Amino acid sequence: MSSLSGKRILVTGAGSGIGRAAARLFAERGAELVLVGRRLKALKETLPKALCVSLDHSNDEAVAAFAAQCPQLDGMFLNAGQFLNGGVESSPISTFDQMVAANLRGPWLMCHHLGAKLKNGASVVCTGSNIGLRAIPDSAAYSISKAGVHMLAKVLALEWAPRKIRCNAIAPGPIRTAMVDARLNSSKDRRADLARLSKVNPLQRLGLEVEVAALAAHLLSDESAWTTGCVIPVDGGADAVY
Ligand SMILES: NC(=O)c1ccc[n+]([C@@H]2O[C@H](COP(=O)([O-])OP(=O)(O)OC[C@H]3O[C@@H](n4cnc5c(N)ncnc54)[C@H](OP(=O)(O)O)[C@@H]3O)[C@@H](O)[C@H]2O)c1
Repeated sequence: MSSLSGKRILVTGAGSGIGRAAARLFAERGAELVLVGRRLKALKETLPKALCVSLDHSNDEAVAAFAAQCPQLDGMFLNAGQFLNGGVESSPISTFDQMVAANLRGPWLMCHHLGAKLKNGASVVCTGSNIGLRAIPDSAAYSISKAGVHMLAKVLALEWAPRKIRCNAIAPGPIRTAMVDARLNSSKDRRADLARLSKVNPLQRLGLEVEVAALAAHLLSDESAWTTGCVIPVDGGADAVY
């Protein structure tokens, strides 16, 4: 089990889903948490005793102001994101703008402004997506924004290597969170779509939030000290299959 004892770790999107499960797991493993999201009440419900910060991570001025007063960090789990469906031709440009802002501009700004707050030897994990690795229909802007997150992690692995700061991305397959529920709500046949989502990987089921959180905990811990610049699928084997 990866120990996070004595580490101060920031988690974005910590008020729900994968981020909430991760924050709770990191706390169980000894970390002190800084929780970030737009809904303060949801963050408090995740961990009442943690430092909770209401912040839109895509707002440059707001992230800069937060960074000025943020304490030194041993790690960041840059996990916040949003999903909108649509293809390149079928999506309005507002969909592209929203996906890039929520999924790529946000982690970029967090790294841009908070890089100076990372201790030497820190670790950063970004949440990408398995559909940022492989294309599927009807998710164009989301997939493109997540592919950008994967490259952001690689670029930062190079930039931060002199300070021994590591940066990796994880690429989850479908996990049953509010994001997937919202996607299913717009489906014409919810049950069929859920069954189809469960069958896209060899293990034939959706993932659990804590299964993603456990990989992030490993990458934030010292036991992954030689792992940087990677994009690691956590998807029941979907990435292995043509
Ligand atoms: N669920 C899946 O199947 C799946 C698969 C692959 C990747 N992912 C990725 O996993 C991450 C977590 O998603 P989830 O499934 O746990 O969904 P979720 O429950 O909807 O969580 C997304 C979180 O991001 C926060 N957020 C969104 N926009 C934000 C912004 N502009 N500034 C700050 N926080 C923001 C939300 O909090 P507020 O609303 O309070 O801001 C929310 O807590 C996302 O990056 C998602 O793309 C999910």
